[in-house]
Amino acid sequence: MTFDLFDNLPEPDSRGGEHSEAIGPGAVVLRGFALSRALALRQAIEQVHAQAPFRHLVTPGGFRMSVAMTNCGTLGWVSDERGYRYDPNDPDSGRPWPAMPAVFVELAREAAAAAGYPGFVPDACLINRYTPGTRLSLHQDRNERDLHAPIVSVSLGLPAVFLFGGARRADRPARIRVAHGDIVVWGGPSRLFYHGIAPLADGDHPLLGTLRLNLTFRKAG
Ligand code: SIN
Ligand code: FE2
Repeated sequence: MTFDLFDNLPEPDSRGGEHSEAIGPGAVVLRGFALSRALALRQAIEQVHAQAPFRHLVTPGGFRMSVAMTNCGTLGWVSDERGYRYDPNDPDSGRPWPAMPAVFVELAREAAAAAGYPGFVPDACLINRYTPGTRLSLHQDRNERDLHAPIVSVSLGLPAVFLFGGARRADRPARIRVAHGDIVVWGGPSRLFYHGIAPLADGDHPLLGTLRLNLTFRKAG
């Protein structure tokens, strides 16, 4: 991937320790953007978990994913032997996924706007739970109907290395450290870029202990 593609990137801004870093065409990391809301986010995640517990999904190839997942919003991302899809119901309970907490919707909208994507209204939030050693291999987010909307990805707890590649699986990914409170937003020319998470290192986070939690907001329907 060449770096001439970076022409239309949003200008960095700096508000009270927050700043944004361009990581690709139409892609930024908003450092510390979620920090002030971390406690409220953790509480909201606990409420979602109480209704729709984290579980290890199985890939279409029959492998159990090491990252535990749940969802909230009108659509939830699920995987099983039949493939990947969005489902309005939690397959474990047969009930609709929990509603998206207001603190989630607000944060996702504000982060998208700060990254140059105003008017983002997510209908799906995938919640990923990592423990040390777990990883998410390179993939594209391509099950969404509307590829005009960006992806907004919030990191909480233990730091991780976000792998951000290019349009082709073979593009060598950049390794970007994402810490508690950071938000990655990508869309437009990088909407279908390959990405993943390197194996999580050991650690002990003051708010989340030995966990990393990730919220991935999308407009899926
Ligand atoms: C994802 O690609 O769905 C999650 C990425 C992350 O955990 O930061
Ligand atoms: Fe993804």
